[in-house]
Order: sequence, then C-alpha cells, then structure tokens
Amino acid sequence: MTGRVVRWGVVGPGRIAENVVRDFEFVEHAAVTAVASRSGARAQSFADRHAIPRAYGSYRELIEADDVDVLYIATPHPQHHAIGLAALQAGKAILVEKAFTATLAGAEQLIAEARRRQIFAMEAMWTRFQPVIAQTRNLIAEGAIGTVRSVQADLGVVREFDPSDRSFAHELGGGALLDLGVYVVSFAQMILGEPESVAVQGSLEPSGVDAEASLLLGFTGGTSATLLCSLHSPMPGQARIFGSSGWIDVLPRFHHPRSIVLHRNGAEPEHLTREPTGAGYAHELAEVTESILDGRTESTVMPLSDTLTVQRVLDQALDALGVHFTEDSAALEQPAAG
Ligand SMILES: NC(=O)c1ccc[n+]([C@@H]2O[C@H](COP(=O)([O-])OP(=O)(O)OC[C@H]3O[C@@H](n4cnc5c(N)ncnc54)[C@H](OP(=O)(O)O)[C@@H]3O)[C@@H](O)[C@H]2O)c1
Repeated sequence: MTGRVVRWGVVGPGRIAENVVRDFEFVEHAAVTAVASRSGARAQSFADRHAIPRAYGSYRELIEADDVDVLYIATPHPQHHAIGLAALQAGKAILVEKAFTATLAGAEQLIAEARRRQIFAMEAMWTRFQPVIAQTRNLIAEGAIGTVRSVQADLGVVREFDPSDRSFAHELGGGALLDLGVYVVSFAQMILGEPESVAVQGSLEPSGVDAEASLLLGFTGGTSATLLCSLHSPMPGQARIFGSSGWIDVLPRFHHPRSIVLHRNGAEPEHLTREPTGAGYAHELAEVTESILDGRTESTVMPLSDTLTVQRVLDQALDALGVHFTEDSAALEQPAAG
C-alpha cells in the first residue's frame, strides 16, 4: 500500500471485469494498477482501454507482483479457488466474484486460508451494498414490517444453450444455481440466516448442469424462503419480504435495485428510491478498500460465514439435482496455444 491508496489488480478481464473496473472512478483511496489475463494481448488491450499501468500475460505474475494489495478475481467460478488460494498465500487480499467457488469444499478451504493468514477476503455479492438494500435492512431492523416470516425471490434469463459458454459448460461451473441462484439464496440468507432444510425441484441442460431450479428453504420457527432461478425463463427479478405487519417489495431487478415499496399493513404504500453510485459496483469496491485501509479482515456487510452458508445451500441443491462440480486446480496454468 502506498500512503492511503489501495492498489488493485484485476484477474480475468472478461465481461464483468469490463463493467466493474469502470466504477473505480467513484472509489476513493483505490487505484487499479495491474490486470492479468491468460493472454498477454488481452491483458494489454484491457489495460489500454482502462488506463491501467501494468498488464500481465499470466495470473501468476500478478499474484507475485509486489505492487498490488488486493486482487479482484473475475474468472468463471471453478477458477476462483486456485487463484484465490495462491493470492492469499502470496499475502494478497481478495474480492472474489459470485459464486465464491464452484464447491462447498473449495469455499471452506479458501475461507480457512484467509482466516488463518488474517488477510481480507470477500465475495463480490454487490446486492448487499446497494443503498436501497441497506435501507431495507434498516427498515426491517426497526420493525417496519413486524417479524419477518417469509422471503420470495426470482431471477430468470433466457439464454440459448451453448455448451462452450460459461453459463452452460460443466467445466466452467455452468448452470442456473451458481450464476443466478446464488443471488436469490444470498438474499434469503441475508434476511433469514441459515436454513434448516433445503428442498429443490429442477431440470438439467444437455451438458449436465442445472437449467432451472425452485427452492424451498425452511428456517427455525417455520419461516421460509421460496426461490426461483432459470436460464430459460424471463422472470422479473423481484424479491418480497413478508412480515407480521406488512411487506416490502424490492423492485426489479432485486439483485441491484434502486427502489423498494414498503407496505405497512393498512397504510398507503411508501415508494423509496436510493440511486447506486456508478453502475452499482462502486459500493463493494469501497467496502474492500476501506476494510483494507482500516486493517479489517472481513466485511460485516458480506461476512465469510454468510458466504459459507450460501455455498452450503447451493451445494445441497446441486447435489439433489445430481450436479457435481470440481475446482479447477490448473487455473493458474497457461492454456495451450491456439
Ligand atoms: N457481479 C455481477 O454482476 C456479475 C455479472 C456477471 C458475472 N459475474 C461473475 O463474474 C465471473 C466471470 O463472469 P463473466 O461473465 O465476466 O465471464 P467471462 O466473460 O467468460 O470472463 C471470464 C474471464 O475469465 C478468464 N478465464 C480464466 N480461466 C478461464 C477458463 N478456463 N475459461 C474461460 N475463461 C477463463 C478469461 O479471461 P482471460 O482468458 O483473458 O484471462 C475470461 O475473460 C463469474 O464468476 C460470474 O458469476 C458477476
């Protein structure tokens, strides 16, 4: 760290990294100093587009660089584990895209390593950092809808099956649950905590990954969450939180919302809007930057124990559907030329 600036490195300059990196202009005390791709040309072109000083043609070079404090890992899910582990072992903090890992065991190992080394690690679950979600949590804590009894959430898209695409390829951790289900499960976990039971219904793609899933999560005292995710259904992306004296609609898309509607029983609905900064990624980037500057090793907004609970639910649901992933232990190796 130089002075009060946290130096960031980007790993995997794909679709999401392209968007996230633009939000750094809204983050104080943070600078993107390097990017790494498995291809030197891709790294250089990303660096040129975003005025990033250094470009590396391998992930390992960035992990070993001594002028980077934290890595933003934006590869497909099964590549998060090996890259994250190597980064922690090199003393670097990590912000890991959702889903945190492809397997529960991978998440457990990564989290244990971060805790053992006392190095900051966080899942990039940007939903939790949206201003209107923070407001929603405050309203619930103040009792605006009484005692929470149930959560509903859906997230569906229509994508054409392509076995080589990250969304469908088994070796890239494809399927609805890890890509979209992680949002609905994380939302329910944020409100209701750790479920006691997980029931699932779903279908599979020709590649063997899950195409869609409906989940019923059961919590202590009979509270519940009903959740949907799909790669083949255009769902609104709406969430609802039901309490004993009202409910809150989190308007689409709930995973990066601007507005909620608070329904207090018997009263007129209250529409509340809070705009995110930038494209909405700036908040999580600020959380990581500030946490590192303050010497914290975990976020209180997106703690590692919550990530672990979410991964446990996803793991149970995938297992019930007969989908089993492995972490890519060769994620740091260079792909064969051509
Ligand atoms: N927070 C959000 O809003 C959001 C949105 C979309 C995706 N995501 C998450 O971000 C991650 C990446 O998603 P994406 O849509 O950006 O994927 P993507 O466009 O396919 O990009 C992923 C990048 O990872 C690198 N990579 C490393 N190993 C790879 C492998 N074996 N196969 C393919 N690519 C590999 C590639 O870069 P190089 O080869 O150049 O190194 C590639 O450009 C996923 O975990 C996803 O869930 C988050």
